[in-house]
Amino acid sequence: MNYAIIGFGKIGQALAKAFARSGIDVSVATTRDPESFASAAAAIGPGVIPKTLAEAVNADIVFLAVRFEAHGDVAKALPTWKGKIIVDVTNAYGVPPEQLGGQPSAKVVAQAFTGGRLVKGFNHLGATVLGQDPAVHGGRRVVFLASDDDGAAAEIGALAENLGFSPIELGGLSEGGLLVQGRGNSWGHLIFKDLVKFA
Ligand SMILES: NC(=O)c1ccc[n+]([C@@H]2O[C@H](COP(=O)([O-])OP(=O)(O)OC[C@H]3O[C@@H](n4cnc5c(N)ncnc54)[C@H](OP(=O)(O)O)[C@@H]3O)[C@@H](O)[C@H]2O)c1
Repeated sequence: MNYAIIGFGKIGQALAKAFARSGIDVSVATTRDPESFASAAAAIGPGVIPKTLAEAVNADIVFLAVRFEAHGDVAKALPTWKGKIIVDVTNAYGVPPEQLGGQPSAKVVAQAFTGGRLVKGFNHLGATVLGQDPAVHGGRRVVFLASDDDGAAAEIGALAENLGFSPIELGGLSEGGLLVQGRGNSWGHLIFKDLVKFA
């Protein structure tokens, strides 16, 4: 299994830190030449590998860490996402609901990534918190996952555990998943709730 993070800004770098801390290699990509962010990647760890977008999307599991408005451009990087899991870390805060046809933002992202298996997750915390060691106070920082594909949610749950987090599955994108999605100018009730789970 191999991994990529598309978008290497605040949240992409926070995710990359979690991979580096856990000793799991991850590719990172932006719209730019990989050389332009190679030193930022190296500063996080040797297993954070800068690539072009075209190379990075070949990973089995792709974290989408770009602004919501850019998701369509990333989706176009492959004709089909069949066989891949996309982890939607975007927050569509401020996007008018009518622009999304009234759908939850993650549903709109899922439709753009034709054939892919979409999991919404890792998006409810600010980048500064997400980038910290998730082992806190003798427990593990919680990340929420929502998906219409139970198998994909379970796979990302296992990865979240390997990254040191405590995953909580919320159910489908239009059900529990709404708790972790921005809608218009409001936030789902679990957004920004920094929770720790004890064994
Ligand atoms: N910041 C937070 O605390 C936070 C928390 C939770 C969720 N989020 C969500 O995470 C997403 C990213 O937020 P951010 O704060 O990390 O934004 P950011 O700092 O502006 O980073 C965005 C990254 O996306 C890249 N990018 C833009 N368009 C792209 C494309 N078409 N293909 C590949 N890469 C592209 C940018 O690189 P170049 O433009 O240089 O190519 C940049 O590396 C947003 O949807 C945001 O709502 C953010």
